[in-house]
This record gives sequence, C-alpha cells and structure tokens, in this order.
Amino acid sequence: MERIDFDKIVDRNNSHSVKWDAIDKVFGKDDVLPMWVADMDFHPPQAVTDALKDRIEHGIFGYTFVPMSVTEAIQDWMKNRHDCEFKKSSIVFSEGVVPSISTAIRAFTEKGDKVLVHSPVYTPFFNMIKNNERTLVTSNLLYENGRFELDFATLRQS
Ligand SMILES: Cc1ncc(COP(=O)(O)O)c(C=O)c1O
Repeated sequence: MERIDFDKIVDRNNSHSVKWDAIDKVFGKDDVLPMWVADMDFHPPQAVTDALKDRIEHGIFGYTFVPMSVTEAIQDWMKNRHDCEFKKSSIVFSEGVVPSISTAIRAFTEKGDKVLVHSPVYTPFFNMIKNNERTLVTSNLLYENGRFELDFATLRQS
C-alpha cells in the first residue's frame, strides 16, 4: 500500500493559499501557525494526482455529472469502515461541509430557533448560524483523558 510522506515539507507560500498566504488577514499578525483550517500540507495519494492529470490531459472541461461509481464507492466506504448502510437515494452531493450545514439549518429550523454547537469547532459553524438569523447556543466539549466528550450537564441547561 502506498505510504503518504507526512514529514515532507511542501512550501505553499505564494500559491494563493488561504491557510498560508492570508495569515495576516485571518489573524491580524503573521507570527502564528495557521492551524484553524482542515487544509492539508501533504501530497495526496498518487492515484488522486494521476486521476486529476488524466482529466486535465483530456482537455475539454464541459458540464459533468457525478457517476454512479462515486455513489457506490461512498456506500462501500461507509459499510466497510463504519458498518453503516445507506440507500443510493440517501446520498446527495454538495460543495462542502459548510454549505451543507447551512442548507440543513435552513431546511430544519426557522428564524430565531436555537442551534447548538459543541465547541471547539471550525469558526464558520458559528457564523452560519448567525448569518441564517438563528440563535447560537454553545456547549463546550470537555477534554478529559486525552479525548473530547460531550458536557451533558451544560447541555441540559442549553
Ligand atoms: C477545520 C475545518 N476546516 C475546514 C472545513 C471546511 O470544510 P468544507 O470545505 O468541506 O466546507 C471544516 C469543516 O468541517 C473544518 O472542520
């Protein structure tokens, strides 16, 4: 099985990277390590790079649809890794986690409703609740024995 080289340092400066080239903008200073975003600094598996190269070499970039093989790969992953089974019709595609959560907030809540977030989480999770005119409620996770756990005591008061 291919090994990913997590120790190789890849210089991402001057690549329009939000993580590395916008440190000043995000933090108001530049002497910080930007660990706020799940943006990886290691190369992806070779199969991913090869597939992207093949796509680019094809040279025509028209409209596409998500092939059934992708849906089936997700079903297989969820079954094999998490012992969860989903119908194909239960899998929908979205541009990312942030727009998906925002869509769910609008679909399942009304303006003014409370939406609970277990902090610490990615900062946009707070903003999208406020931007959708819902009421942000937080319950901080407890860090105990090297892992985060729900704080049921404050959760009940929320
Ligand atoms: C740390 C972190 N970075 C980035 C993201 C953004 O994910 P996406 O690009 O899929 O919206 C998330 C989403 O959960 C996150 O937790």
